[in-house]
Amino acid sequence: MALAGTGVFSEIIDGEVYRYYADGEWRSSASGKSVAIVNPTTRQTQYRVQACTQEEVNKVMEAAKVAQKAWARTPLWKRAELLHKAAAILKEHKAPIAECLVKEIAKPAKDAVTEVVRSGDLVSYTAEEGVRILGEGKLLVSDSFPGNERNKYCLSSKIPLGVVLAIPPFNYPVNLAVSKIGPALIAGNALVLKPPTQVYDSFGIFNSFTECEGLISCVTGKGSEIGDFLTMHPGVNCISFTGGDTGIAISKKAGMVPLQMELGGKDACIVLEDADLDLVAANIVKGAFSYSGQRCTAVKVVLIMESVADAVVQKVNAKLAKLKVGPPEDNSDITPVVTESSANFIEGLVMDAKEKGATFCQEYRREGNLIWPLLLDHVRPDMRIAWEEPFGPVLPVIRINSAEEGIHHCNASNFGLQGCIFTRDINKAILISDAMETGTVQINYAPARGPDHFPFQGLKDSGIGSQGITNSINMMTKVKSTVINLPSPSYTMG
Ligand code: G3H
Repeated sequence: MALAGTGVFSEIIDGEVYRYYADGEWRSSASGKSVAIVNPTTRQTQYRVQACTQEEVNKVMEAAKVAQKAWARTPLWKRAELLHKAAAILKEHKAPIAECLVKEIAKPAKDAVTEVVRSGDLVSYTAEEGVRILGEGKLLVSDSFPGNERNKYCLSSKIPLGVVLAIPPFNYPVNLAVSKIGPALIAGNALVLKPPTQVYDSFGIFNSFTECEGLISCVTGKGSEIGDFLTMHPGVNCISFTGGDTGIAISKKAGMVPLQMELGGKDACIVLEDADLDLVAANIVKGAFSYSGQRCTAVKVVLIMESVADAVVQKVNAKLAKLKVGPPEDNSDITPVVTESSANFIEGLVMDAKEKGATFCQEYRREGNLIWPLLLDHVRPDMRIAWEEPFGPVLPVIRINSAEEGIHHCNASNFGLQGCIFTRDINKAILISDAMETGTVQINYAPARGPDHFPFQGLKDSGIGSQGITNSINMMTKVKSTVINLPSPSYTMG
């Protein structure tokens, strides 16, 4: 209850149950029911959130529609001003917000502060980028198209979509919430947010957007009651989702609205013989094990040339031995994974690899949701871990004999988020990048979404649409044209 404990955010809690946020107020649901949020480290119920009803969701949608109309008429510079203020409030409260992340999702303390500061910067940048790109329109004249005279002037500009439904994931609850809130608001939309099931306290961040009454809402509840109801709601004009497979189900059910889906990844790290092996080892450890591997952009399979594999495995093992494993409050590098079912899933992948003969570079160790970092060498394509996404501190290494073999494995995945290549030969790197079926390829660096203004997108089951600040603003708008029709020149000029 880190945020509720601060004066600014105290109204977000009602006894033991967090309120939902609608019409600029924190409210209790008429259902009288609540949903438990479980602490990943202690595996005990940390607190509860309101189980909103469908009727309450309807009211939130109606309020959002009304507020959006007024907001769309608010001058762009004023919308930007509000976002700048929100960014400042976020940064000012970085300590209590980060404390929530430590408790709710076992994010290491230092990473939690970084997430909040990054989020403040994202909101400020969004305000500035919004002013730049939404402040511009386009003028077309008709006589560039065959058969036309110069008597039509088409003025185009970007207008908001209406109400954006935002569903951020547990692993970046603040950053991936504001990466949806910021673009939606600057573009003149209202926004309804459904937080991930494991997180809530940090959503006191809504108080950062103080002047937006009714414009943003946050509803909580049971997926069975409000999940599909929200995503299929006729009041929703756009859905921005980050998470797992649920996104595929949402895409199939959603109406005719723009979708932005960032789903899973099996990001491959292809290592060639001429790579800088120290750089490779450092990036594998950071890329695969930061936040205990719970990042969609984590390195999830290493595809390494046989001739350098032993050396890299040795270097990675030496680094893994130095990682601190323990509770997030101690700023450990490896912390408990988010739920017991995630830990069980990871264990299932590890046991499958064991049965099929993978080499364990460390002893497999688990206490509750805490899993010690593990490198699995000599993984083969018949093992589940070669293809599935553990979302945990467990990394498979597949030895290859050619770059083509690496590309083939990468492209055989149903995912296509990011990938990376380590080589000193830039020509080879570009050719391999072109051949890899992923939304982004990093050369000589581990996969990463940021900086937050870079385009970020997945192919295949990794997603739909492109994110990054500019792309998100554009995605949350549509083009409106007004055509001025003049009398034809031949008529007026004789
Ligand atoms: O988990 C998915 C995130 O979008 C990854 O973001 O690359 O900044 O860790 P990141």
